[in-house]
This record gives sequence, C-alpha cells and structure tokens, in this order.
Amino acid sequence: MTVVAPAVSLRGAVAVPGDKSISHRAVLIGSIAEGETAVRGFGRSEDTESTVRAMRALGVEIEDEGPDALRVHGVGLRGLRALDGSIDCGNAGTLVRLLAGILAGQQWQQFELAGDESLSTRPMGRIAEPLTQMGAGVETAGGHLPLGIEGRPLHGIAYELPVASAQVKSCVLLAGLYADGETTVVEPVPTRDHTERMLRAAGAHVRTGSGRVTVEPADRLVLGEVTVPGDISSAAPLILAATLLPGSELIVTGVGVNPTRIGFLDVLERMGARIAVFNRRTAAGEPVADLEITHSELVAAEIEPAEVPRLVDELPLFVLAASMAHGTSRVRGAEELRTKETDRIAAVADGLRALGAHVAAHDDGFTIRGVPTRPRGGRMSSAGDHRVAMLAAVAGLASRDGVAIEGAECVAVSFPGFFDLLDSLAQR
Ligand code: S3P
Repeated sequence: MTVVAPAVSLRGAVAVPGDKSISHRAVLIGSIAEGETAVRGFGRSEDTESTVRAMRALGVEIEDEGPDALRVHGVGLRGLRALDGSIDCGNAGTLVRLLAGILAGQQWQQFELAGDESLSTRPMGRIAEPLTQMGAGVETAGGHLPLGIEGRPLHGIAYELPVASAQVKSCVLLAGLYADGETTVVEPVPTRDHTERMLRAAGAHVRTGSGRVTVEPADRLVLGEVTVPGDISSAAPLILAATLLPGSELIVTGVGVNPTRIGFLDVLERMGARIAVFNRRTAAGEPVADLEITHSELVAAEIEPAEVPRLVDELPLFVLAASMAHGTSRVRGAEELRTKETDRIAAVADGLRALGAHVAAHDDGFTIRGVPTRPRGGRMSSAGDHRVAMLAAVAGLASRDGVAIEGAECVAVSFPGFFDLLDSLAQR
C-alpha cells in the first residue's frame, strides 16, 4: 500500500518522461523504416518496453543507448519475420492496435498478438473490421485477444471511424502503407495525429483536411532521428496538483503541446487555472514548450463530446479538479473511458467518492458537485490502471488526511519514476 500524505504546495522545475504515444510510434515506424533510427527522449515504461520487446521478437535489432535513448535498425516495410508463438503486448493498447496494421501488410505470414488480463478484455473488433475490409486475414476471440493476423495483399479503403480513436485511425493508416491504392480515414472528431506527423517525417505521403486523413502506398520510409517531447499526460497530474495547492509554483520543461493533446490545459484555463506556455519550439515535427503553473481557485466546467479526445487520458484528473471547484461540472460523450485499461468511469467515480468527493457516474461521463475545500482522503484502489493510480496520488496531496493507494505500482505502465518525482516536489 502506497500512502500519499497531504502537501502544502508543489514547488520546483522538472522534466517528465518522453511521450508514450510518440515513443511507441518511433519504435514501430523505425522498425519498418530503412536504416537506423536514433530515438532520443524515449519514454521508458512498461508499455513502451513491451513495444521494444515485440519488435525484437519480430527480428528487429534495437540497441539500448542510455536511459532514454534507443537505436532501431529498421528492416524495411516488408522485413518483419513471423515467429512461433504469440507476441506479448502486455498492457499496451497502442502497441497491439498499431502493430496489427503493420502485420496486416506482411504478406502470407501469420502472427498472433496477445496481452495481459486487462488488454484481453479490451475491444479489438474495431481494428479487425477495417483490416478485414482491406483484405487481411484477421481472427479475434469474440472481438478480443488473442488476435490472429495473416498478412495479405491489401486494398486501399475509405473508412469512417465508428468511434473517435487515434489507435484505430493509426492502425488503418499503417496498413494503408501496404495497400494497392490510397487509404482514407474519416474521423468524427479529431484525435491525436502523431502517426500522421511521423509518417510524413519518414517520407510517406499523407494528406489531411476536413476530418479526413489520406495515406498513399509507400515504397520505403526513412526516419533517421526522433526526439520525443515530454508527455503532457504524465505532466498532467503535476499540473493539477500545482493548480490545487496554494503557494505552488511549478515549471515543467520540454512538454509536447500538440493541439490534439492539450485539451486538459484548455479546460483548466477555462476553470481559472494559471498556466503559462512559453519557449515554444518544434521537435520531430511536434510542438514543444515549457509550462509554468501557479495555484488558482477553480470554477466548474462542461466537457462536451467533441472535446473528449483532446483530453481523453486526463478526464480522471478533470473529475478531481471539478470536485474541488466552485459549482457543478459535467462530462458528456466520454463512454470510451469504459474501454480503457479499466472502466475509468466506474473506477474514478467509486474511488473519488470514497475520499469524500461528490461524483455521479453516467453511461457516458460524470456529474461532479464541487466543494472548494480539501477532500477528506482515505483509501482508493487503482483498479490496476496507471492513470487512476496517479489520480489517487494527486488526491492524496490535495486531501486533509492523505490517501492510501491500493495497487499503486501500476504507475510504471507509463511513468515509473512518478512517486519519486512527486516526493521531490511536494512541500510538507
Ligand atoms: C493513444 C490513443 C488513445 C489514448 C491512449 C493512447 C495513442 O486511445 O487513450 O492512451 O497512442 O494513439 P484511443 O485512440 O483508443 O482513444
């Protein structure tokens, strides 16, 4: 049991690990590129290590060159080799869904993808459907893992996403590299566009506009070097803690501020938070900046369905922010939270209620009655979900009595040094 004691404030200047979404993509796309790709600022975590292990198992040489540096020796678009037995994707949804798109193009080879207990409950029909339309041989266990894939000649399709999902979009675009014509994905709402940016950087022809992304078949990719920005989703718990605790002054350097990822900053600003974004620059085709956060009182906010993908992984933190704001907040159109590492609507509502917050769960979101004082604290389970564990830790800092977190070790899925970093910043 990890206990997070109340803190007076959060003070200091830190960097957070490299972005998890971009780190997965650097290894996956580096693996099917020609020649070497040097990855700097790699966000090492259980999830991204699963990707390194999976690509090694498929015959890709990946050298560890330091705590956050890798060198990927690409085997080219069609150079992956099938192995006996299944590829273990661990807890990583991004890995299984993106890799499936790549394997669909490895002609006449057969693969099986499997994962841990949590990943095995998550929906895979959403990738099986478009990959089958493209001509791949795909089998699931009733829409779940294990996923069997036979690479076959693929056809370009136009695919309208039934759910706003960057993972499904990326799966189809990666398969589109292997197709006999253009592949278009139509998005109901824009989702993170890291795959599009990295494919372009690797020389692929990708067009975007009016809710559509089109990729042309590729002969070869060359990535060369990727400098991964800090993960805004890992910075988010720190940003919220600094906002909630009076006297806080926090600087987070080198964070990715891709417009498709900064919904949490926008919503917090709407609620009255003080977040300065400065030193804007670009790395690996991604916008990067430094952030300075000072304490502020918050007012309630409404989150509508169209905004959800821009802060999908930060919605648990939003619920805590709203529970300490003036007024009643609502989240609508967030039913995708029920298909994450755990059912995040249930885990967040049950967990925060146990600490004294007023949170009602709905099929597609939350209603939160804010009380602008410290919640009592108590005991909260991570439900085995790294984002819920980090939420519980921030709640502990902001509480009166502290929070005892059951299953806190799962933070390592995205942010292994989280508790040490939090301790170094918390003033008690
Ligand atoms: C991710 C996309 C999101 C997000 C996940 C990472 C990605 O999932 O929740 O943590 O790297 O593409 P969906 O695209 O399934 O919503």
